[in-house]
Amino acid sequence: MTQFIVSILIISGIGAVLALLLEFADRFIADYGECQIMINREKELKVQGGSPLLFSLQDEGIFIPSACGGKGTCAYCKVKVLEGGGPVLPTETPYLSADEQEDNVRLSCQVKVRNDLAIEIPEDLFLIKEFKVRVERLEDLTPYIKGITLAIVEPEEGITFKPGQYIQLEIPKYKLSSAPEFRAFSMASFPEEHQKIELYVGLVEKGIVSTYIHNYLKKRDELVMRGPFGDFYYQESDRGILMIATGTGLAPIMSILRHMHREQIQQKITLFFGTRSEDDMYCVEELKSLEKELPRFTYVPTLSRVSDDSPWQGERGRVTDLIEEHIPEAADLDVYICGSPEMVDSCLEVLEKKGISEDNIYFDKFS
Ligand code: FES
Repeated sequence: MTQFIVSILIISGIGAVLALLLEFADRFIADYGECQIMINREKELKVQGGSPLLFSLQDEGIFIPSACGGKGTCAYCKVKVLEGGGPVLPTETPYLSADEQEDNVRLSCQVKVRNDLAIEIPEDLFLIKEFKVRVERLEDLTPYIKGITLAIVEPEEGITFKPGQYIQLEIPKYKLSSAPEFRAFSMASFPEEHQKIELYVGLVEKGIVSTYIHNYLKKRDELVMRGPFGDFYYQESDRGILMIATGTGLAPIMSILRHMHREQIQQKITLFFGTRSEDDMYCVEELKSLEKELPRFTYVPTLSRVSDDSPWQGERGRVTDLIEEHIPEAADLDVYICGSPEMVDSCLEVLEKKGISEDNIYFDKFS
């Protein structure tokens, strides 16, 4: 038995060393020369081979959505690779459905440019821009969430976005990273303000970008940002609206609410905002004043970890409990959900049971 285990360990070790050698050779020895990337059968790029497609396109000013900075964990960076991408990699398969694989969809952060490629991307990705921004405000909203305001330095016209969309923020290399890193953050500000944006950044354990923002970023620092991205945004309709958020998932919801307030949109809106404790609540004053100024808006905070002897007067439990309790069967609603993947999935399950049409449900999963 011991001999068997030792053999397995030796074989695994050899496999790992070989994989490392291949990666090393690919990165530092292989020379793929100049490669051509044909986009949508009309735009042709010449790039130096050897980099992931996501970054080769980024270097040419074409910004593909990404929330994980190219780590292969968010699945936002899907593009169609019609020719030259090689076989689908094991790192991609968990994120691609059978139909997507059939349709040549790939994760652009995992496909390396080693030869000429033909790809297809949505035309509106050509509209995404790169911005230089300056940190104007850094504020602790809760022990784990910072509110930051970024003023746009370049280009002068600022950013145009839809309420609910997100940007990618790039931080420079520092002691926890060997190269610049970027992550996605939803904008909390209203889109009528083009020169400044507000973000809520949660501190992620061992998170390179969130640690930098929480512990190293200073006022007046300049950063690079790209955007706007995403198809989670306010959809005009006459239906009532149910908004559900937890943690930093409140950011796109605030953008939508601020936009509706500014434009005096009079739909009936209910917001269920869940946190663990009262210390994790933020934007409370603004949400209460929005309740006064938007007469059809109701703000319902709920705490999931509150002791029985707490003076907390509001709801207790998870946001899913609120859906169960307060939302009627087959209600004709537009639903916007933002928070952790687990929370979003649980809400979708409850809404499905309630018979809420999935055509009117919009969600954004924050990893
Ligand atoms: S960029 Fe996140 S999976 Fe590719």
